Amino acid sequence: MSPFNDPSIRFTRTTQPRPRPEDASLSFGKVMTDHMFLMDYEEGKGWHDPRVVPYGPFSLDPATSVLHYGQAVFDGLKAFRGEDGSIRLFRAQRHAERLNRSCRALCIPEMDPALIRASFEAIVAADHDWVPRAAGTSLYIRPTVIARDVMLGVHPAHRYTYFVICSPVGAYYKEGVKPVRILATDTHVRAVQGGLGEAKTAANYAASLSAQQEAEKLGFTQVLWLDGVERRFIDEVGTMNIMMRIGDEIVTPPLAGTILDGVTRNSILTLMRDWGLGVSERRIDIQEVMQAGRDGTLAEMWGTGTAAVVSPVGQLQYKGETITIGGGETGALTRKLYEAIIAIQYGRAPDPHGWTSAVRLPVAA
Ligand code: COI
Repeated sequence: MSPFNDPSIRFTRTTQPRPRPEDASLSFGKVMTDHMFLMDYEEGKGWHDPRVVPYGPFSLDPATSVLHYGQAVFDGLKAFRGEDGSIRLFRAQRHAERLNRSCRALCIPEMDPALIRASFEAIVAADHDWVPRAAGTSLYIRPTVIARDVMLGVHPAHRYTYFVICSPVGAYYKEGVKPVRILATDTHVRAVQGGLGEAKTAANYAASLSAQQEAEKLGFTQVLWLDGVERRFIDEVGTMNIMMRIGDEIVTPPLAGTILDGVTRNSILTLMRDWGLGVSERRIDIQEVMQAGRDGTLAEMWGTGTAAVVSPVGQLQYKGETITIGGGETGALTRKLYEAIIAIQYGRAPDPHGWTSAVRLPVAA
């Protein structure tokens, strides 16, 4: 019998549970939990056989299509252990919907969003002991779909595997919530209109690696991506959405096809609007930002993402010129946003938009 909310999900419990790491030792994504969620797709049969099984390697034929043509999508969300002991998912529905949008962009058959949510709940319920307790820690949940045809022709596959793995995590950046240095690149681009920029797919992250490596060699934490056509308008920072305060205006690039519709981005925009702050979603010219940096009106800049939540930017370099933002310190709004989001995530503050959902633990737990 299934111990989960959704009785169609089978459970095979591990017979070899592994030791859990100390909360204080956690970084990002290095340790996986004891179980994983799996489900298969075959043309004619649809998505079938949802199950939670012991975590372990897959065996893939070397001709498996995902290994050659990157037909793969993923998402990332977190479960938080609150002071009241309950475990909450943050915006599970929105992550499920985005995973399906990414599937559409890569010609992968969509899943029932209710089953995607049930998969998040089931894997967290199975591995609830792995949700860390220390401040700032959480369980990162990584749902992924890969193409499983064994063939070298280039076309959408007929077979897929959906899997969900989990990792107890601490801070994404070793700096924690401290200002990072970023480098605006005009030699590499991440995405173009009509491409895959708004999908969460492996290809976008592969496209980011060489610029990221160059930036790191020069002592920067992240790359600031400019648009792929004029190389002038700001798109994203590293793997995050970007926002800034210039004078009295809070600005962020619009969702216009090249950037990810970040769940943290949406949450932060909602909070700021709740607080009566106006936010413009508009194109932002890098020259405008550099000028605001020179004349001192660039008060704050921060990245938003599930992994780091909010990451302040202290310095930006573009074409050899460096500007320091807000004296290189974390700005008051940046800090307030970070605190407000994590208070909701850990259940310490009211959740007026219903963003969190408690995970029901398995009956036998
Ligand atoms: C996030 O900021 O949540 C990300 O997408 C980063 C992840 C790819 C590690």
